[in-house]
Amino acid sequence: MKIIKTKDYQEMSKKAAFIVASQITIKNNSILGLATGGTPLGMYQELIKLYKEEMVDFKEVVTFNLDEYYGLSGDSEQSYRYYMEENFFKYINIKPENIHIPDGMAADVSLECKRYNRLLEREGAVDLQVLGIGRNAHIGFNEPDDEFKADTHFVKLDDDTIEANARFFDKPEDVPQKAISMGIKNIMQAKKIVLLANGLEKADAIKKTIEGKISPEVPASVLQLHPDVTFVLDELAASKLDN
Ligand code: GLP
Repeated sequence: MKIIKTKDYQEMSKKAAFIVASQITIKNNSILGLATGGTPLGMYQELIKLYKEEMVDFKEVVTFNLDEYYGLSGDSEQSYRYYMEENFFKYINIKPENIHIPDGMAADVSLECKRYNRLLEREGAVDLQVLGIGRNAHIGFNEPDDEFKADTHFVKLDDDTIEANARFFDKPEDVPQKAISMGIKNIMQAKKIVLLANGLEKADAIKKTIEGKISPEVPASVLQLHPDVTFVLDELAASKLDN
């Protein structure tokens, strides 16, 4: 496990963007696992800058998003598909057919989970998985539970997650309560993982994840078992770590 402590959000975002860009430089057809939320927005902006400066080329890159809200269509402004288009994909030269995001409007959600899982298996291992972390240490939408869910699955979101995500919605009742998420096995199968966190509200989750006991109650703690994981943290998110 590698921990990179940065001074602020901007430095965290730049570091993360360099890690992603290096991966693509080493392997132009890399498979990237991508995250949404507030945390990686700066990283996407830095990657767009690098693309405009011709430092990175997404022509052969394949992406798999971690999750999607259930019940939101891709053109709904709060869907993760919309987020990815608006904050990243529309500015770079990725091929639309190389973008994968679970379908939040699938009529049969269990079939959709199976389809996504099969796609992930067919493409082979994700080369670099980018993660954020929830205040309750969720990754993707793998919420605290009494067991780790291995594969892509349907999730009932935690109250804490619903509350945290309410900031993106006009009315609290609009916040989706369910989602489709890659499972812990999908995430752990990535060859490399980089987890970003900033701000004091993530400090407890980061401490438990890195220094605590490995437990499905702290989903991100499973990353302690991954052979190539890097945490890129700002000062506040790292502030409760022993070292
Ligand atoms: C969301 C997403 C996660 C994300 C997390 C933190 O619910 N499903 O992938 O990492 O919560 O979000 P934020 O970066 O906005 O704090």
